[in-house]
Amino acid sequence: MIKKIILRDDEMPTQWYNVTPDIPGGLLPPLDPETKQPMGPEKLAAVFPMGLLEQEMSMERFIDIPEEVQNILKIWRPSPLVRAFNLEKALGTKAKIYFKNEGVSPVGSHKPNSAVPQAYYNMKEGVKRLTTETGAGQWGCALSFAAGKFGLDCKVYMVRVSYDQKPYRKSMMHTYGAEIVASPSMDTNTGRRILAENPDTPGSLGIAISEALEDASTRDDTKYALGSVLNHVILHQSIIGLEAKKQMEIAGDYPDVIIGCCGGGSNFAGLAVPYLPDYLEGKKIRFVGVEPTSCPSLTMGKLAYDFGDVAQTTPLLYMYTLGHDFIPPGIHAGGLRYHGMAPIVSALVRENIIEPVKLHQLECFKAGVLFAKTEGIIPAPETCHAIRGAIIEATRDLNDPKTILFNFSGHGLIDMGSYDKFYAGELHDYEYPAEAIAKSLANLPKI
Ligand SMILES: Cc1ncc(COP(=O)(O)O)c(C=O)c1O
Repeated sequence: MIKKIILRDDEMPTQWYNVTPDIPGGLLPPLDPETKQPMGPEKLAAVFPMGLLEQEMSMERFIDIPEEVQNILKIWRPSPLVRAFNLEKALGTKAKIYFKNEGVSPVGSHKPNSAVPQAYYNMKEGVKRLTTETGAGQWGCALSFAAGKFGLDCKVYMVRVSYDQKPYRKSMMHTYGAEIVASPSMDTNTGRRILAENPDTPGSLGIAISEALEDASTRDDTKYALGSVLNHVILHQSIIGLEAKKQMEIAGDYPDVIIGCCGGGSNFAGLAVPYLPDYLEGKKIRFVGVEPTSCPSLTMGKLAYDFGDVAQTTPLLYMYTLGHDFIPPGIHAGGLRYHGMAPIVSALVRENIIEPVKLHQLECFKAGVLFAKTEGIIPAPETCHAIRGAIIEATRDLNDPKTILFNFSGHGLIDMGSYDKFYAGELHDYEYPAEAIAKSLANLPKI
């Protein structure tokens, strides 16, 4: 019985895979929010370094991973591919369940896969300081770690509800040397305006992004980093799927279904997109993206141009969206509380290649507890959504010997407060009312 497949350091991929040229029907370009015309890199260069903008727009299928980046990724990569034998047994299924364990990174999730190259390209272009937002705290920790590695200062705007729920994420960011503030904050015009209108707001990723962008665009030494959604983030995350492909080959299996949880779409796409060329050549694979019922951008949102933030400062992205001023309830999967979805994931849903599914948080926590008891690792609340998705697939027909591969996007050791609330019966399922979604969709920009 082979439980896990571990690649050697020198088997780590040395190139990322860029899915953009392979997307049927392609991607629509980002639009300038003022002119509503396609936006070139010049304007975006105020907040992103050219190295990342080139990747954002690139039509090259493979892009080299710089050696300095590879050396840091090797602290934890290649990550293990694990067969969940014990979970399979507990479910009584003939399905084979594999997971790619991204929880082994220094901060406990897939997020440093992109934080490290983002900090690197900024450092290369002379940037001294980075700002960012964080929902669950995983991305903030990842960027704090990566910025420190390349000698950059880092300020993190942390969504208020997570700031209160996850005190140890703050401690981690401090340990890596970053400055952290709860968002909305008194440090930006956007934050002050929102606090004046709604002092008790739980905050949202859309608000925190506005604050981090305002900070970056008002200082010459500072640029902004985004932890999901954008094409270059998915490019960096493709290392997950590239490794998984090699590991599944060693295991002598091929996935019938690939599953991931979807916040902005980066961990799911990172695992899934390296399999797209096989799919396009006729291989039968299903791609299942799991989102929370409380923030259902793929299943109840609209495919349209929208802002990535509340203050309407980002370029307009063509994506599934619930509307930029949608404020999701304070569920515990903080990393899944985003109003929009990556344009790459959105395009693959549009093409009926990715199947979106929405699940309630309680069934996901239950699945996470079963996973912890069987496989030993306590999953992050976000990851519980992927696990529940995998369990649904594995138990639909217990005699179907299908192969399931899911992304274990992060561990939950710093999310135990959420588990305590779950055990105490203080967590509830929440279905966003269709009228509230329609109301925020009514504010989509007119293109
Ligand atoms: C552990 C974990 N999984 C998943 C996500 C969702 O993000 P994405 O959809 O970009 O992978 C997050 C975001 O914070 C996260 O922390």
